[in-house]
Amino acid sequence: MFELPVFGKNLIHLREVDSTNRLAQAYAKEGEPEGTVVVADFQAQGRGQGGKHWESEPGQNLTFSLILRPVFLPPAEAGSLSQAVALSVHELVSELIESTDVRIKWPNDILVEHKKICGILIENQLEGQKLKSTIVGIGLNVNQLFFGDGLNYPPTSLALGKGHPFEVKAVLTRLLSILSKNYFLLYQGATNRLREEFEAHLWGKGTQLPAIVMGERGLGEIMGVHSDGRLLMKWKGTIRVFDLQEVKFMPIS
Ligand code: BTN
Repeated sequence: MFELPVFGKNLIHLREVDSTNRLAQAYAKEGEPEGTVVVADFQAQGRGQGGKHWESEPGQNLTFSLILRPVFLPPAEAGSLSQAVALSVHELVSELIESTDVRIKWPNDILVEHKKICGILIENQLEGQKLKSTIVGIGLNVNQLFFGDGLNYPPTSLALGKGHPFEVKAVLTRLLSILSKNYFLLYQGATNRLREEFEAHLWGKGTQLPAIVMGERGLGEIMGVHSDGRLLMKWKGTIRVFDLQEVKFMPIS
């Protein structure tokens, strides 16, 4: 019988760590319970998508990892968990900065007016055919006002969006509550509903976007997401499904 854990009841707060995802993974292996949160004021080697680094000013932003054990979810449906997480951050950001232009850039970046406010890194550990544990790593820009060069996407933060700083701990508490609500929906099997909501907030849907697909430049039209989580995009006149490694979109200013 599955019991929904209270997210953050077990909370490990560190001043500094290499990566909360790395540490949470180690804790998950040692048997820390589902719902455990590892949060750090600073990550020396924050991990991003595609082996990139996640940079975040000390004490300014939210960088944390949540240990989940979605044993009820077939690995082929792991994309639904990613959608549930992205939707949760989308809901939080929309609530806090009251912007109408908060979008989910597939697979799970959160953009405000085409600028990236949050990155999500989900790492799964399988046991046989089952998801043994999943680490949900979230980097949300909260109070940072200035960002270095060389980021792959123009950045923003809640403070830049709203014009005042936020209490990072309060933002975490609210996000954990939304995550818990959506995780329960996933447990109840509401994958179609989550996918429809995800598609409703999908960045660039229905417009022609400059993209590079397997090294070739062109215009892609995002149609939605496949039930396995891959991107459905019209490319060179045909609707096809794409993996993250196959498609890259140019930033829009
Ligand atoms: C991305 O590249 O967009 C994903 C960034 C994910 C960063 C978060 S910060 C907390 C957690 N710990 C990590 O090392 N990475 C994730």
